[in-house]
Amino acid sequence: MKKYLVIGNPIEHSLSPLVHNFWFKKYRISESVYEKKKIESSDLKNIVDQVRNEKIKGVNITVPFKKEIIPFLDALKGDAQLTLSVNTLCKNNNEVIGFNTDTEGFKNSLLNEKIDYKNKKILIIGAGGVSSSILAAFIKTSKKIYITNRTRTKADELKKLGEASLTLLGREKEIIEVVDWGKTSEICDIIVNTTSVGLIKGENLNLDFKEYNNTSSLFYDLIYNPKDTNFLKEAKLRGNKIMNGKMMFLWQAQIAFHMWTGIEASIDKELIKLVEV
Ligand code: ATR
Repeated sequence: MKKYLVIGNPIEHSLSPLVHNFWFKKYRISESVYEKKKIESSDLKNIVDQVRNEKIKGVNITVPFKKEIIPFLDALKGDAQLTLSVNTLCKNNNEVIGFNTDTEGFKNSLLNEKIDYKNKKILIIGAGGVSSSILAAFIKTSKKIYITNRTRTKADELKKLGEASLTLLGREKEIIEVVDWGKTSEICDIIVNTTSVGLIKGENLNLDFKEYNNTSSLFYDLIYNPKDTNFLKEAKLRGNKIMNGKMMFLWQAQIAFHMWTGIEASIDKELIKLVEV
């Protein structure tokens, strides 16, 4: 039996087992099972060891361990290096490698809706665990990236991480700017909520977006449960475009599934319905 896991704490809410087991069945991959496991920090080394000795074939990592797992890994690849955030483990040539499929998953969710995110002005709200993955999605091609976070120091740290990538890319560092919480930046094309505000129904960011009335800006909330946060409801009322994090979630899973099985799984209507909340 090939075993796959998603680890996190809390983990009850995770829909990843539903998605991966759906694909195992659809593509007739027998003897494979994907489970969720609530873990503590002290379990991380053991999980990585189990990938190394092939007791576990693949692992997804969710909140709050995406960074904490890094010291236990042999190497980071691709966006995991840029973001210092790992959501997928694979064994490659006897090494346990950390990957980040959140960045690509986020980009795919935009491309799939034919949303052109290149050469645009971006506002990232939040500087928590997932924020670096969103920053990485925009860093190569954006005209300007604003970051705002309740705790300013975390926004400054995220800016530094982004600047390191910009230097590697040979782009000028000035494209990233931190905006004090509650202050407005210039009008942006895409505004992404990467905070946890909205996970509890009715929660409000209390930021002022009235300058966005009737603009064609896209308000993207990474939260997909609940599916319409106040951030999105208010954007809709203002006449803005909206998107929640459901398709990003499915795409990051699709990319991980491909790494483990070599199969390009499709995100069909049945699957989208399966994860409907
Ligand atoms: P996680 O690992 O779950 O992403 P995190 O790293 O603590 O958790 O990130 C949560 C994000 O939501 C942070 O940007 C956090 O802002 P702070 O850095 O100031 O804590 C943001 N956040 C959480 N509750 C918030 C609130 N009530 N108002 C504004 N931002 C909030």
